[in-house]
Amino acid sequence: MNITRKLMTREVFAGLFLATVGGIGSIIVGLPIIGVVLGPLFTAPKDVWRDVGAISDFKVGETVQVKYNYNQGEVQQWSGTTQETAAWLRRNSGTSFTAFAVYCTHLGCPVHWLAAPRIFLCPCHGSVFNGDGTVAGGPAPRPLFTYPVRVQSGRVQIKTQPQPLSL
Ligand code: FES
Repeated sequence: MNITRKLMTREVFAGLFLATVGGIGSIIVGLPIIGVVLGPLFTAPKDVWRDVGAISDFKVGETVQVKYNYNQGEVQQWSGTTQETAAWLRRNSGTSFTAFAVYCTHLGCPVHWLAAPRIFLCPCHGSVFNGDGTVAGGPAPRPLFTYPVRVQSGRVQIKTQPQPLSL
C-alpha cells in the first residue's frame, strides 16, 4: 500500500512536471505565432505615397511598369529583394495617370501588359484584363485594383495600400 502510494506520487509528479514543461514550451513557441497572426488586426497598415519617377519619364498613352519598395521610408535591412514590388502606370494625358496593381485579382500572380492588344494577361490561370483593368476573361472575379496617383513638383507618386485578394 505504501509502495503504491509512492509510485502514484512519482507518476503524478512526473505528469505534472511534463505538463508544466510542455505548457511553458508551448507558450514560448506559440506566442510569436499568435502575434504574427493577430498583429495585423490591431495595426492598420499605412498608405504611403511612393515616388515612381519624373513626369517627363512617361509618354502619353503608354503603360509601363514602375518599381518601388514596400518599405520606402521605413527600410527593413533584412527585407532584401522581397520588399521590391511594382505597379503598371499609364499616362492618360498631361498630368492624368492611372496606376494598376500588378497583382491578379484571382490568386495574386503578377500580370503582364501586352501593348499591341492593349490587355493585361495573367500567366498563372489565364485571366485577361482589358486596358482599363476590367475583366475580359478567366477566373479573375474583379477588375485590377488601382492606386491613387498625384503629381507633385514634377514627380509622379502613387499611393499604395494592401491588396485584398479573393481566395
Ligand atoms: S492568379 Fe491570375 S488567373 Fe489565377
